[in-house]
Amino acid sequence: MSRIAYVNGRYIPHALAMVHVEDRGYQFADGVYEVCEVREGRLVDKRRHLERLARSLAEIRIAPPMSNAALDVVLRETLRCNRVRDGLLYLQITRGVARREHAFPPPGTKPSLVVTVRASDRAKLEAQAETGIAVVTVSDNRWERVDIKTIGLLPNVLARQMARDRGAREAWFVDKEGMVTEGASTNAWIVVPAGAIVTRPATLGILKGITRAVVLEVAAREGLTIEERPFSVPEALKAREAFVTAATQIVMPVVEIDGRKIADGRPGPVARALRARFHAVAEIGP
Ligand code: PDD
Repeated sequence: MSRIAYVNGRYIPHALAMVHVEDRGYQFADGVYEVCEVREGRLVDKRRHLERLARSLAEIRIAPPMSNAALDVVLRETLRCNRVRDGLLYLQITRGVARREHAFPPPGTKPSLVVTVRASDRAKLEAQAETGIAVVTVSDNRWERVDIKTIGLLPNVLARQMARDRGAREAWFVDKEGMVTEGASTNAWIVVPAGAIVTRPATLGILKGITRAVVLEVAAREGLTIEERPFSVPEALKAREAFVTAATQIVMPVVEIDGRKIADGRPGPVARALRARFHAVAEIGP
């Protein structure tokens, strides 16, 4: 089955799917995006992802290219064309194609909309969750508006590559006060020795992850104590457990930070339970 991409009104074979060289996403990273899990052919937490998309668009003053109902048709059709059972849907909206000039393009310039879907290996992800991942810490050198899900991800790209260069899977950004903000493409969590789950509040400084929101709900239903507050790297090193969350990996245990093991260096029961319960609480669409 060949892959199909949606590009500005057309469904095109993935290999031929292209945008113009003067797309503002290409030239200025002037756009926003969403990544949504596809599970058994259905989108997970679509409503929340579309709400966050609308907020991101409003924050950078791009008018939605179509109504939510029309966008829903595009998402369903792209999913249908690709026949992906388990995977990820990627959606990107940029300020459109215009002669290169930093200020906004002339009124009437149409935003560009691209949607792609790819399959993922669920068994492989499950196997990774069984062993957990290593993270490294890097200083957070991003702009202040990381609450907007923009496609300007260069610091995240460099951080993730640094992690890879050091044999780790994810990088945790650390702010000037020595507190962990979030991962390069994940939210960061620990379970402290007393048993509470700690994650940074989703005010400014992190992306308000959809997976994070659902995991907070799962944790509350499980009767776990939740503390939304910043935590430091030394506190994380003394934690009982650590994990990251994102649509791409749901709940992924972290077993090592900067080469030092967390607890016994194996995934813990809280991360396991949250992962196992996640899809019972998430909204899984038609
Ligand atoms: N990233 N923090 C950052 C910086 C992210 O890029 C992401 C998601 C998250 C988790 O958000 P959510 O739970 O809504 O996926 C937190 C996506 C998956 C990506 O860029 O691939």
